[in-house]
Amino acid sequence: MSHTVLAKPAVRWALAAGAVAAGALWFGDKAPYPYAQHKLLDLPLPYLTANRLDAVLRPRPGERVLEVGPGTGLQSLHVAPQLGPDGRLDVLDIQPEMLDHVMRRAERHGIANITPTRGDARELPFPDRTFDAMYLVTALGEVPEPERVLAEAVRVLTPGGRLVVGEFFDRHWIPFGTLHRLADDSGLHLAAHRGSALAYLARFRPCAAAA
Ligand SMILES: C[S@@+](CC[C@H](N)C(=O)[O-])C[C@H]1O[C@@H](n2cnc3c(N)ncnc32)[C@H](O)[C@@H]1O
Repeated sequence: MSHTVLAKPAVRWALAAGAVAAGALWFGDKAPYPYAQHKLLDLPLPYLTANRLDAVLRPRPGERVLEVGPGTGLQSLHVAPQLGPDGRLDVLDIQPEMLDHVMRRAERHGIANITPTRGDARELPFPDRTFDAMYLVTALGEVPEPERVLAEAVRVLTPGGRLVVGEFFDRHWIPFGTLHRLADDSGLHLAAHRGSALAYLARFRPCAAAA
């Protein structure tokens, strides 16, 4: 046994260093979720269910709401009908294939109040104070410089508006403690938090409105 390759310290160190490097690449990769794997996005994530999103987001008829990173529309198709004919859900994604997918599904379900926009969450192409609420589910961690997304949320939300972030333990995730710190730095006040260490939904309000 003393001759096995694994017993040699240099080999063990090399393997450990390789594992750390692979982990850093895996968790540090910020590429958008590939559309080619879109079928996986239709599987509901543990804890981040539609009912729990409702409880934290509280969508109301007549509101204008922005969803960033809708993927294939798992949350969009649930939220948009709650806004009613006088409300509107804007969906913004960096990948046009995702937006096309959402719009095809919305049409099949007879949902007519969703408006797609291709764009980058770090530079939202909307005027200040446009939205009553904005939400991202398993999307914020995919965006490089998430603090820029939070700053944009503060800009595009109406006074008293709300931002909901849902995150789940995967290679892109943002732990709640990190999000809370980034939100504080961006002038967002924590208003609600549901979930566990590995999957959570959190609602924030711009601090000026929360004071
Ligand atoms: C993992 S998917 C989540 C989809 C959906 N919210 C869900 O839970 O099924 C993340 C989404 O964020 C989008 N995304 C990634 N980076 C983005 C960026 N910089 N700006 C806008 N959308 C982005 C991806 O294209 C993808 O649709």
